[in-house]
Amino acid sequence: MTEQWFSGRTIVITGAAGGIGRACGRAFAKRGGTVIAGDIGDCQSLLEATADAPGEVHAFEVDVREPAALERLVERATTHGGLDVLVNNAGIVARESIEDLAPDRWHDVLETNLTGAYNAVQAAREPLCNSSGSIVTVSSLLSHIGYSDRVAYSASKGGLDAMTRALATELGSEGVRVNAVNPGFIRTEMTQTHLEAGKEDDFREKTTLDRLGEPEDVAELVTFLASDNAAFISGETILIDGGQAVKG
Ligand code: NAI
Repeated sequence: MTEQWFSGRTIVITGAAGGIGRACGRAFAKRGGTVIAGDIGDCQSLLEATADAPGEVHAFEVDVREPAALERLVERATTHGGLDVLVNNAGIVARESIEDLAPDRWHDVLETNLTGAYNAVQAAREPLCNSSGSIVTVSSLLSHIGYSDRVAYSASKGGLDAMTRALATELGSEGVRVNAVNPGFIRTEMTQTHLEAGKEDDFREKTTLDRLGEPEDVAELVTFLASDNAAFISGETILIDGGQAVKG
């Protein structure tokens, strides 16, 4: 039986209806956690994926660009006895080159990916300090390496990495650990267009392991970082890219 690392603990996950968020929801619920899931979209697939898990899952419609919506989501978590973990996962990608990147698009990506995480941290800070909890943010490999047509996305993820280090420094004295994970290519709805365009082999060959990442690969790292097993890890941004960044 899977160890119940999160029994009696409450976890808020944003973007929980998508590939990585859903896998995180399942991984926490499998380990006994109470998951408070928020997404701008429909979380039905998360509820189905966690139906047999020992932990409870509650899903709500939330837009991370709206601070009040995140405050309500965190309040729902605290009715379950407090908040122990925040997973900042909601995100969108823009694949326009700089000459086609309109200001609206730039702002939308930054507001969702970076300001959305800020909004969630503001809402969650006090209960996380009360529980000496933990924040795990889903950043990206693209905060480390450059890709064409990803200026807004990379900027948002670089901001998340820097925010992770600053928050870890600021909240460490409250016993709150703050870390980020930086995935390479993961097979989700976000990357579906690449797969449909027949680019699976291109992305697979970029890794040292000769495979794409799966959402569960990321969820295992997220749950580890949020657990007591990672009690002395804070301020880290950890690549999970099948070795892509180190391959020459
Ligand atoms: P996904 O598209 O399957 O999931 C993203 C989820 O975020 C969706 O359910 C979407 O509805 C939700 N979302 C978007 N805007 C929102 C908003 N304003 N408020 C609330 N929810 C919102 O994509 P995936 O791959 O699961 O992405 C999850 C995170 O992982 C994102 O932050 C993404 O940037 C990051 N990531 C993904 C990689 C990949 O290759 N799939 C690689 C590196 C990072």
